[in-house]
Amino acid sequence: MECMRLKKYIVIVVLIFLLVPNINAQSEFKMTPRDSEGPFYPIERQSDEDNDLLNVKGQSKSAKGDVLNLTGVVLNESGNPQSDVIIEIWQTDKNGLYRHPRDRSRGKRDPFFQYWGRAKTDKEGKYSFRTIIPGAYEPRPSHIHFKVWVGEKVVLTSQMYIMKDKNSPPRVNKLLRLEVTKNKESEYLGFFRIVI
Ligand SMILES: [Fe+2]
Repeated sequence: MECMRLKKYIVIVVLIFLLVPNINAQSEFKMTPRDSEGPFYPIERQSDEDNDLLNVKGQSKSAKGDVLNLTGVVLNESGNPQSDVIIEIWQTDKNGLYRHPRDRSRGKRDPFFQYWGRAKTDKEGKYSFRTIIPGAYEPRPSHIHFKVWVGEKVVLTSQMYIMKDKNSPPRVNKLLRLEVTKNKESEYLGFFRIVI
């Protein structure tokens, strides 16, 4: 009888030992939090909707501003890469303006900036964009809006916040921070993981 009890005890201890690392592993892949869509989600289709926001088809010059190479990956909560997912981003130009009729901020829009675009994840769940560090507009810190589409359905609407210097917003959820660094060519690099 004592022997049975001991065996049971050993089995329970072994199970706990095996399960705890899995619980920890799962908590690494917390869902990316939702955030407001804001009032400037694009309402007009544009001729160029690709993932290079620095260049608009048919224009001779590139956008003004600090270049940002934004890359990332889309995972599910178990950490598996999600392919064929569409990431859509929209943001301000260097002067903090959106291409939206309701954005009546003063200043001139940059005709060479694409303002919004889309990228599809590959087999490894990876996506990329060429864009600029968005100009901040009062009272909001520099941010990039995004939506994640699976097929015809939007599964996530949120924002990533640019963390580049001591003026970066201090109270942003860790999972929405886009930490950026500069490379030798003085372009910014940022990696943003999305968990859906
Ligand atoms: Fe915004």
